[in-house]
Amino acid sequence: MIKKIPVILDGDPGHDDAIAWVLAAASPMLDIKAVTSVCGNQTIEKTTYNAGRIMTLVGLDAPLAMGRVKPLVADAIIAPTVHGNSGLDGPALPEPKNKPVDKDACTLMAEILEASDEPVVLFPTGPLTNIATLLLLYPHLKPKIRHIYLMGGGIDFGNWTPAAEFNILVDPEAADVVFTSGVPITMAGLDVTEQALVFPEDFERIRAVGNAVATVVAEWLDFFYGFHRSIGYPGAPVHDAVAIAALIRPEIMTMVDMFVAIETTGDYCRGTTVGDKLGVLNRPSNARVIMGIDRKAFVDLLAEAAAHYGKGA
Ligand code: BDR
Ligand code: CA
Repeated sequence: MIKKIPVILDGDPGHDDAIAWVLAAASPMLDIKAVTSVCGNQTIEKTTYNAGRIMTLVGLDAPLAMGRVKPLVADAIIAPTVHGNSGLDGPALPEPKNKPVDKDACTLMAEILEASDEPVVLFPTGPLTNIATLLLLYPHLKPKIRHIYLMGGGIDFGNWTPAAEFNILVDPEAADVVFTSGVPITMAGLDVTEQALVFPEDFERIRAVGNAVATVVAEWLDFFYGFHRSIGYPGAPVHDAVAIAALIRPEIMTMVDMFVAIETTGDYCRGTTVGDKLGVLNRPSNARVIMGIDRKAFVDLLAEAAAHYGKGA
């Protein structure tokens, strides 16, 4: 039997976070030790509530802990235009059976790392506030972090400003802590996630799987597609699911090691992930940046994950 990799899911669900977690919970490779919420797409109260609803939907039995109420330094930025007022608008979801534990996200993560016999993978799919807090408060636990697979940034472009992607823009100081930490990082930024597009024929294929989770995933994708079409995208970029896929299906991606700096100041570029693609800074690489993906294989992976939850009626 394959030994499962211990992981922690940290996100701000969010439609694509939710689909990322459906993918993670379906994977026989992963042992989900905890779920932690972060303030991003919506307030921390709403993302925590949504996290509990998603966990209940997929039957994920792990501790859930609430993250910090705001970014390290900046005020919160939320994204109701993208994810709706609830942070996860669309299909009805079960009320959470998973209530947050009586400790904050950072404390829970630290306890899990301390207790783990082997290093743990972190999957942040929102702003990096909780992960930076963990690294700042518990630097001795860095060796217990095997790898950080994150969704954030974009070497070639942004989405919330011309230069910056949402997750990094919301908390650039946190991103700076993470990217300078020395912990191995794989970055699923916009360069790849805007290639990870889903179209109506894809979510109809997932809907046809017929079980309750597949039906909800199809509805989330339908919602996400509608928003992205309204702003000119050809399909729905399922950003956060690429971070999970990077561990469980790396062979469908192309990746480049490079030095990535986080711009924390500037009139136009705060929150930018500055990737030294040409190596002109002569600095050692600190991130493996995903630059390409086989879109069809990615959709196959989502459909396989949906089928994991049963055959349906
Ligand atoms: C990121 O921003 C959020 O809206 C999504 O959940 C994703 O993590 C994409 O820029
Ligand atoms: Ca997210």
